[in-house]
Amino acid sequence: MAVSFYNFHDLHHSDFKSEVKSRINSIIDNNAFVEGEYNQAFEKEFAKLQKAKHCLLVANGTDALEIALLAHGIGAGDKVGVPGITFYATAEAVLNVGATPVWIDVDEQAGLFCPESMKRVHEKHHLKAVMPVHIYGLPCPMDDINSYCQENKIHVIEDAAQAQGTFYKADSPIGDSPNLVTFSFYPTKNLSAFGDAGCILTNDDELAKKIIVIRNHGRGDEQAMGRNSRCDHIQAAVLHAKLPEVTKFNNMRKKVADTYHKALADLPVKLLDEKFICLSSWHLYPIQLESIKQREGLMNHLRSKDIGCTPFYERTLSQEPALDGFDGEDVKAKAFAGRTLCLPMNPFLSGEDVNEVASEIKDYLS
Ligand SMILES: Cc1ncc(COP(=O)(O)O)c(C=O)c1O
Repeated sequence: MAVSFYNFHDLHHSDFKSEVKSRINSIIDNNAFVEGEYNQAFEKEFAKLQKAKHCLLVANGTDALEIALLAHGIGAGDKVGVPGITFYATAEAVLNVGATPVWIDVDEQAGLFCPESMKRVHEKHHLKAVMPVHIYGLPCPMDDINSYCQENKIHVIEDAAQAQGTFYKADSPIGDSPNLVTFSFYPTKNLSAFGDAGCILTNDDELAKKIIVIRNHGRGDEQAMGRNSRCDHIQAAVLHAKLPEVTKFNNMRKKVADTYHKALADLPVKLLDEKFICLSSWHLYPIQLESIKQREGLMNHLRSKDIGCTPFYERTLSQEPALDGFDGEDVKAKAFAGRTLCLPMNPFLSGEDVNEVASEIKDYLS
């Protein structure tokens, strides 16, 4: 029985499609293609959902990171702490503003940004900013990170590209934060556009003003360096139409994660801590194998049975050829990247789907 990684068919059900088609028709009829009424409506409602004061839509998640760095005045000569386990864009944003990435190691259980590594790296490198990544939808240990960074005047930019619907604590969603928090709405994300889009959340009025200027060519401020990072009205209309269902779909992902945890409990694979069942948005469901060889073997076995799976991430950023030569810590990140495999994860997986995946894993490992 095939089990697919994503399920766009059920996500874009017929009621949703009719609603979006009618919105797109009205956008065409009104010639309102950029920064229209749905941009404002989405910004207001997404900020409320994430308990932030401001949401500023931008063109994509990489721009969101770059604009956040620029809003803090980070550029040439500055060092920015980036975890080894993340998508390339986190480091790319640092390089694009002219700053230098320095690797921060991760914890070996979850692949999350490690505060202890950050402290050691800061003592040596005097970081101007750090970018904890809520990888897979798991929340980073922000209390530790924030208290150290506040004491040491280090800017914190949270990369929440994969974390729409994640909670730091029971009733504190990602965005309920003193930091700039950035999201991607790339089509595979839990809350997704029909193309590229992203946003930045902040509780700081001054930073919000700067971001509004930077995303629109620096207009309205003679000093500001700007760019074109406006969000298309059609993308905002799609995102706004999806908002009413995002919490329901994230809760369905939590149920799928819980079912996986139970189905895999007796197998020789490492699972994420139970505490994440409620906190994570379960953008992805990673398991850890004993070795790269075992991970490759299991991946090939599952794919031969039409079960979608992906080794996010095969390498740490420090192992990417284009990012070779930067300093920092990455020993645990390297071990983590070599052993991780992400299983199918979407809100519409049935108990039967999950049991099928678990049974194929069991067959392969026994
Ligand atoms: C952790 C992380 N940061 C940044 C990005 C970049 O987002 P975008 O592709 O929207 O530019 C992504 C996208 O996948 C991501 O996963």
